[in-house]
Amino acid sequence: MNRRFLDACWGKPVDRTPVWLMRQAGRYLPEYMAVRSKCTFLELCKTPELAAEVSIQPVDILGVDAAIMFSDILTPVEPMGMKLDFVPGPVFEHPIRSMADVEALRIPQMEQDVPYVLETIKILRRELAGKVPLIGFGGAPFTLACYMVEGKGSKDFAQIKRMMYAAPDVYAALMEKITTMDMEYLNAQIKAGAQAIQIFDTWGGILSPSDYEKYVLPYTTRLINGLNRGETPVIHFVKGAGTMLDSVQKAGGDVMGLDWHVNLGRARDVLGQGMAVQGNLDPTVLYAPKEVIEKEVKRVLDENAGRAGHIFNLGHGILPTVAPENAKFMVECVHRLSQK
Ligand code: CP3
Repeated sequence: MNRRFLDACWGKPVDRTPVWLMRQAGRYLPEYMAVRSKCTFLELCKTPELAAEVSIQPVDILGVDAAIMFSDILTPVEPMGMKLDFVPGPVFEHPIRSMADVEALRIPQMEQDVPYVLETIKILRRELAGKVPLIGFGGAPFTLACYMVEGKGSKDFAQIKRMMYAAPDVYAALMEKITTMDMEYLNAQIKAGAQAIQIFDTWGGILSPSDYEKYVLPYTTRLINGLNRGETPVIHFVKGAGTMLDSVQKAGGDVMGLDWHVNLGRARDVLGQGMAVQGNLDPTVLYAPKEVIEKEVKRVLDENAGRAGHIFNLGHGILPTVAPENAKFMVECVHRLSQK
C-alpha cells in the first residue's frame, strides 16, 4: 500500500511528498464528463458504483497519492429536511431563517438516510485495494450553515451574518444541530472505511478573527473532539484563515489545510512542529505553461524546506477549465522534485 499520504499526515518521513488535489474528481476530466452526461450531479452522488468510478479516475489518470470519495458537502443536509438542487451551484428552496425552521430540521439516521455514501466508501476500499488511501469528507458546521441560511452561494453573506448578530439564539441552535449531524455523518464514514477525514470550511475566512473564535471555533472543536479518530487523521481546511491560523489550530485537527494566500513556511512556523500541513499552490497556476508550473511547485516545496508532514495540494479546488495534462504534470513535478 502507498502509505505516503497517511505517513505525512502523522508527520512521519516519506520517500517523496504525497500529493492530491481538492476537487480532483470533477469537470476538468473528460472521463468525469462522460459519466456525468448520463445523470444529474445528485444522481451521481447517490449511485455508489458511479460515484466510486469517478473517485478512482484521478488516481489512475493523474497518479495522485490519495483518493477522495465522490459526493458533496451538502449531501447529508438534504435528509435533514432541506430540498437540494444543483444548478450547478447548490440551491436550497427554503433556506433556514427562524427558530421554527431550525426546530423542523431532523438529524438523519446515516445508515438509512445516506446509505449511498457509506456504500461508495465500501466499494472504493475494495476497488482501491490498498493502492492509495481513501479520504472521506464533510463541510465544517459554519460552511454548511452558510448554504442552509443563504440558500445558495453568496458574495456578502448578509443572511448568515445577520442571524449571527441579530438572532444569536437561532444561530446557536442551528450550529448545534448541524454539528451533531456532522459528527454522526463523519463517524459513519470512518466506520465504513474512510482512512482520513477532511473538513472543508470554505467560508470560515469571511469572519473577523474574533468572530471566528466566538461563532465558529466552538462548533468545529466539538465536531473534531467527537470523531472516533483512532488511526484516522483529520485535515482541517479553512479557506482564508491565513491571519488566524493560531485560532484555527485550537480546533484540534492533525493536518492544517492552507490556501495560497499564506507562505507555507511561515504558516509552519506559526503552527509549530506538531502539526502537518496540506497545500498550497494557487489553482490558477495550472493554466500556466509547464515551466511556470514546475517553478511554482518548486517554490512551494522550498517553502516547506524538507520538513516532515507536508502533503502537497492546491490552495483550493481545481478549476473546471484546467487541462488534465497540466494537473498530471504538476503531480509528476511534486514527486520528481521532492524525491529523497
Ligand atoms: O474533491 C473531490 O473530488 C470530491 C468531490 C467534491 C465535490 N464537492 C464535487 C462537486 C467535494 C470534496 C466537494 C466539496 C464542496 N462542495 C465544497 C467544499 C470545497 C470547496 O470547493 O470549497 C463546497 C463549498 C461545495 C458546494 C458546491 N458543490 C458548490 C459551490 C458547487 C458548484 C461549484 C461550481 O464550480 O460550479 C458544487 C457542485 C459540485 N460538487 C460539482 C462537483 C464535481 C460540480 C457539479 C457538476 O458536475 O455539475
